[in-house]
Amino acid sequence: MQPILETRNLTKVFHRGSLLARDRIVAVDNVTFSMQRGEVFTLAGESGCGKTTTARMILGFEQPTSGEIIYGKGEERWHPRVWFSQRIQAVFQNPFETFNPLRKVEGYLFETVNHYKLASSKAEAEELINSKLEAVGLSYGEVAGRYPSEFSGGQLQRISIARSLLVDPSVLIADEPVSMVDASIRMSIVNLFRRLRDELDMGILYITHDLATAYYLGGQIAIMFRGNTMEMGPVQEVLTNPRHPYTQLLRESIPEADPEKKWRGRISIAETEQEEYLREGCKFAGRCPQVMEICKKQVPELVDVDGVQVKCHLYVDRGSVHEEVS
Ligand SMILES: Nc1ncnc2c1ncn2[C@@H]1O[C@H](COP(=O)(O)OP(=O)(O)OP(=O)(O)O)[C@@H](O)[C@H]1O
Ligand SMILES: [Mg+2]
Repeated sequence: MQPILETRNLTKVFHRGSLLARDRIVAVDNVTFSMQRGEVFTLAGESGCGKTTTARMILGFEQPTSGEIIYGKGEERWHPRVWFSQRIQAVFQNPFETFNPLRKVEGYLFETVNHYKLASSKAEAEELINSKLEAVGLSYGEVAGRYPSEFSGGQLQRISIARSLLVDPSVLIADEPVSMVDASIRMSIVNLFRRLRDELDMGILYITHDLATAYYLGGQIAIMFRGNTMEMGPVQEVLTNPRHPYTQLLRESIPEADPEKKWRGRISIAETEQEEYLREGCKFAGRCPQVMEICKKQVPELVDVDGVQVKCHLYVDRGSVHEEVS
């Protein structure tokens, strides 16, 4: 099977600070993954690990410092530029930011139809918009003439998804799509992603802090820390049998009913984000309960342990070295 989206050694370096005291931060560090049609690929990890930067490079909002992104391999009928502009769509965290409060919501839907010339008359446009709104559990009648403030966050997120469906995308990138939606309706949106994956055979790049929804969506997961993929493989396997000490800590800290379990409480932060990014060796060494001397000096290689890739010195002798793509 051909992957619908691939990254190879994708890297983004940011420089921060003044001209005289500049820090070089590798926000995304040689990230390589591939995603299939009809599959969810989750990027997970705590705040500032490089998830959004990865998504922004894939969407063309940010230029990679090095590495490659390969779009739509195996879909020959699309020119790469057309594929990129139409076949990949995104839904963001805050639906209230996506829509201007002074503008009727339907305006956004018609704008997309006009931009991509998806209909030749107003009636045809309405019909298309209605079909996409129905796909997310709404209808044109419910949306027409109304302003963003007349909808809940969950409804706006659905409208945002409907808008992205207008062009029949092959890939949907969803960056924290449910984190600002009420917990009570969060699962209905997650279920909607499952349906889009199954019924429309879409690839979904799901970005989240929430391992429970990632588990529920299935597919593959990459656990990121300070720009690095620490562990990557089938989500069920990675989360039920985590190998990397960082994944183990993250899993224990899934915020459940007990608010004390929030991961900030569980993982002691010995260094600042800046210090971790600048650290030599494994970025997680400062917090790792199983840290060894070598971890502080040398970056571990990504090794394959029973079909899961792990970037940790504990596994270097146990797995086979995963070949970096060149
Ligand atoms: N334009 C920028 N200039 C400088 N540094 C940046 C820029 N964008 C992101 N960063 C830094 O890159 C790192 C990764 O940020 P990113 O937003 O990708 O993380 P994230 O995993 O999406 O976090 P969150 O879960 O909070 O959304 C952070 O240290 C961030 O401060
Ligand atoms: Mg982010």
